[in-house]
Amino acid sequence: MERIRCDRTATWRGLQNLFANGGQTFDLRRAFADDATRFETFSQSAPHVFADLSKNLLDSDSQRLLFALARQCGLEQYRDAMFAGESINNTEQRQVLHWLLRSPAAHSGVAPNLTGELAQVHAVLDAMLAYAQSVRADESITDIVNIGIGGSDLGPQMAVLALDSFVLPGKRFHFVSNVDGHELAAVLKRLKPASTLFLIASKTFTTIETMTNARSARQWFEANGGSDVGRHFAALTTNVAAAREFGIRTTFGFWDWVGGRYSIWSAIGLPLAIAIGPQGFREFLAGAHEMDQHFQSAALERNLPVRLGLLDVWYRNFHRFNSRSIAPYHSALRRLPAYLQQLEMESNGKCVDAQGQALRFGTAPVLWGEPGTNGQHAYFQMLHQGTDTVPVEFVAVKNARHDLTGHQELLLANALAQAQALMMGQHDTGGHKNFLGNRPSTFLLLDELTPSTLGALIALQEHRVFVSGSLWGINSFDQWGVELGKVLAKDVQARLQTGDVNGLDGSTAGLLQRLR
Ligand code: F6P
Repeated sequence: MERIRCDRTATWRGLQNLFANGGQTFDLRRAFADDATRFETFSQSAPHVFADLSKNLLDSDSQRLLFALARQCGLEQYRDAMFAGESINNTEQRQVLHWLLRSPAAHSGVAPNLTGELAQVHAVLDAMLAYAQSVRADESITDIVNIGIGGSDLGPQMAVLALDSFVLPGKRFHFVSNVDGHELAAVLKRLKPASTLFLIASKTFTTIETMTNARSARQWFEANGGSDVGRHFAALTTNVAAAREFGIRTTFGFWDWVGGRYSIWSAIGLPLAIAIGPQGFREFLAGAHEMDQHFQSAALERNLPVRLGLLDVWYRNFHRFNSRSIAPYHSALRRLPAYLQQLEMESNGKCVDAQGQALRFGTAPVLWGEPGTNGQHAYFQMLHQGTDTVPVEFVAVKNARHDLTGHQELLLANALAQAQALMMGQHDTGGHKNFLGNRPSTFLLLDELTPSTLGALIALQEHRVFVSGSLWGINSFDQWGVELGKVLAKDVQARLQTGDVNGLDGSTAGLLQRLR
């Protein structure tokens, strides 16, 4: 399908005008004073998520033009092309079907050309959940070690931590990703082969970090009296043949149309399925599916991923904010910022469009953050009084799953107070105590943190990245930018052995010599 890039539309110029004439000087405090209905207008419910967008530097005029921009760029057609199974990952000639992993088996909304894929999805899902159940029931297995990196680590790790209160007692989960042997060694020293299950998670089954860790884990297993690699190792991969060659006979496959950073819904989710059980995993998928349906069917004006994605474009390309801070006010969501970092920055961190044409505007912002209230005692100073404006995305959960008194109220009060302080500021003639205010934030609110609400939250984030990537005209589903470093690491590794610095730049040569 033909895509129209945002900067080649008439509406883009309209937005530039609007920004120059009022958008730039928009004041949130005045906007609330002038409009008693601002909260209602700029907030909405979506499946499992309530979103307050009213504390953003956005009025009805700019929002209306942003919706027009989305329509002019063909966002709806591009979205429909993904759901129709077109190969929208054009640089790799692949379909983009991660959303199919969460479609119910008998889902009538799935395009007829995808029913074969859907059947395969459910065959693997059923087998993987049966296996998860058998591991849960096996009391001799107490430790599950996921070895994977990037999307084969961040998703399951983030979700197992997030759903900690649903995790089966008696099972411990470990995540090893870094090729730095300290990480694996620290985990192994706490384990016994007979009670450990290793899950080797790699879409390609070639990633050097994962393969190195997997080989070391097997050596440790055998050297410490472990027998039956077949029982204590399983592989989650699209490259089942390579896993078999490695000696693993329990394998769960997925497909090249699942990007690594979108793979938590596939066999890569096995650690989560073991942790929260088959029913919990199905609820996780179902929550995400509800968000898919919302994204597919809600009018753009009431479509939460669309509204968030358009806000991202408005901030990045007109206000020129180059980062977004994510502040989960729930300690179990402590890996959410890292997960979203890969999702946003690996998807949209591109400086050419899908046709390889240079882009003359900003794309993915830097995404970063820590859970609240910790962040408040570290970098929030800069958010309140620094020279840059950083939009903050709060993620709060209304009901806690512990029974300690006072904590939850204090936590939520802090989230609200931070958003309030960012916006309202404080006038002080002395300077140091002056807070300019007018600093934007979005407030995402879940009633509970459960498998289904987490699924919906993650799908929401996937689709908002789709929306901004769509307008920017880029392919959000490849990641060529990580290849060069992989190639050079091989060359440098060989040179570390031989000491050959011929042809290297002065700095690399100097450091290499010091490292020998
Ligand atoms: O860093 C590039 C990347 O390909 C990511 O996209 C991916 O999530 C990660 O490496 C791991 O890849 P694999 O699952 O194939 O080991």
